[in-house]
Amino acid sequence: MGEADFDGEDRDPLTTNSGEAVPNNQNTRTAGPEGPALMDDYHYFEKMAQFNRERIPERVVHAKGGGAYGTFTVTNDEISEYTVADMFSEVGKETPMFARFSTVAGPRGSPDTVRDPRGFALKFYTEEGNWDMTGNDTPVFFIRDPSKFSDFIHTQKKMPANDLSDPTPQWDFWSLSPESLHQVTWLFGDRGIPASWRTMNGYSSHTLSFYNDEGERYWVKLHFKTDQGIENFTEEEAIEKAGENPDYHKQDLWEAIEAGDYPTWTLKVQVMPEAEAEEYDINPFDLTRVWPHDDYPLIEVGTMELNENPDNYFAEVEQAAFSPAHVVPGIAHSPDKMLQGRIPSYDDAHRYRLGSNFEQIPVNQPKNAETNNYHQDGAMRMDDNNGAGPNYEPNSFRGPVEQPEVEKPPLKVSGDADRYQHRERIDNYKQPGDLLREVMDDAERDRFVEAVVGDMDGVSEDGIKKRQIRHWFKADPDVGRRLAEGLGFDPETIIADELLEVEDEIPDAPVVDDLVD
Ligand code: NDP
Ligand code: HEM
Repeated sequence: MGEADFDGEDRDPLTTNSGEAVPNNQNTRTAGPEGPALMDDYHYFEKMAQFNRERIPERVVHAKGGGAYGTFTVTNDEISEYTVADMFSEVGKETPMFARFSTVAGPRGSPDTVRDPRGFALKFYTEEGNWDMTGNDTPVFFIRDPSKFSDFIHTQKKMPANDLSDPTPQWDFWSLSPESLHQVTWLFGDRGIPASWRTMNGYSSHTLSFYNDEGERYWVKLHFKTDQGIENFTEEEAIEKAGENPDYHKQDLWEAIEAGDYPTWTLKVQVMPEAEAEEYDINPFDLTRVWPHDDYPLIEVGTMELNENPDNYFAEVEQAAFSPAHVVPGIAHSPDKMLQGRIPSYDDAHRYRLGSNFEQIPVNQPKNAETNNYHQDGAMRMDDNNGAGPNYEPNSFRGPVEQPEVEKPPLKVSGDADRYQHRERIDNYKQPGDLLREVMDDAERDRFVEAVVGDMDGVSEDGIKKRQIRHWFKADPDVGRRLAEGLGFDPETIIADELLEVEDEIPDAPVVDDLVD
């Protein structure tokens, strides 16, 4: 709110929305000092009408968040071999951007420090239009088919009957959806509760694509690595912070930027030439799996710095609208069916939440590129609505024309149109096992077991708990045993039910002897 101005001599006149000066903002017009209010006090009516309409729908997911402006600067132009995207064209090139971080499940007022993935949404105002990188702080996701998104999200929300929290639906869903195991393992590891937005990484998670001026396509995964270092909260710290200050992460980012302590992230990219996708031993378009760094090392691209707080939270953060559909020449999508499922979903959500002209709201406008098309009208159209026209194309007069030179290289696709099951066909266990055994150390694995046991303890059905533990047995027998014991089950019983299945399903699963030692 800035400096106090007690005498108020230089302040603007108070007016109604139509500009009429308001003589009195303290006392409603009444008939006599105690009398009824008069209908001609329009200023009062306008105040109440505006107030009654202050709320817009919150985001159906990622409702709680905060954001800031910043700059992306290229530090290594090796990347321009792979993409014609102008923002990556030369070392030192700067692109202004806006970032919004969020939790996924909770409503707008919910605490920041819960165990949940964090949204990591970036809008780059490039000279070729806005590019949105709508990612998360995790490299994988819970599901592999977009039609399961609303089912999954329902399990993260309150119970339909009483609007209370219950862990049963999420463990029911996860235990019936083994493709979730990698993301669930990640979530119950230390990184499931970042200490701040500044100390977490961001990932495209999906495989995207780049293409160069030779028409060569590369599949890419983007990693925004925090330069502040990874820092996480323990369960206890997170609960304490949630009680003290539900806006802990929002405040941390705001205060760091106000203090000039600008957080930065280094963008690195994994690059796979198009043809290698067919030979790679995992499907590179599977959102539940990473590309191991040994197979595809990280190539540095540039630095993102957040250095300016918004002036108004509602105008700039609440009204920010990101979408995986928003790309620019040189950056494109991939056959990942989850990504395909997201492309139409976001702008549809924005049209409901903000209206059909949401891209005319200043934070969403392409700041460095023109928008020219024949769309018109709609609620809250703010520009000249394309003036006198023509409002159709092709036409013989004037107006924008298509740009064939920005067409993407053709992509070969094949296969019978059908519905293909994936749960039994694709390995769900190797990468969660790698994470548990090779990435987590003993202390983190202990915290992981404790966190899972603590959460699953509240599940109402033993059958759900056992079904979930069996998935972890397949990923890592030792962890499976510890979870069984932690939840009061005899591990041998759970193992016995599962032995044949483990051996039959996963060729390189841990040997049975390891399970029953
Ligand atoms: P690497 O040893 O090359 O990489 C391991 C990665 O794990 C690093 O990126 C590290 O991030 C990250 N990490 C460290 N601690 C945790 C944690 N508690 N929770 C989640 N991630 C953590 O191995 P691989 O590339 O072969 O991957 C092995 C496993 O690591 C994967 O199955 C996956 O679960 C996990 N992982 C892999 C990533 C990838 O893109 N390959 C990305 C993130 C996780 P940092 O370097 O920032 O410390
Ligand atoms: C927000 C859909 C998966 C990251 C949203 C919103 C919808 C949605 C409808 C609300 C948009 C709004 O009202 O502003 C979906 C669907 C998915 C999916 C259908 C899968 C099929 C993912 C994945 C990621 C992701 C895999 C990350 C890799 C985000 C982020 C936001 C968001 C960061 C918040 C953006 C912001 O800050 O405004 N999603 N989502 N989503 N989603 Fe997804």
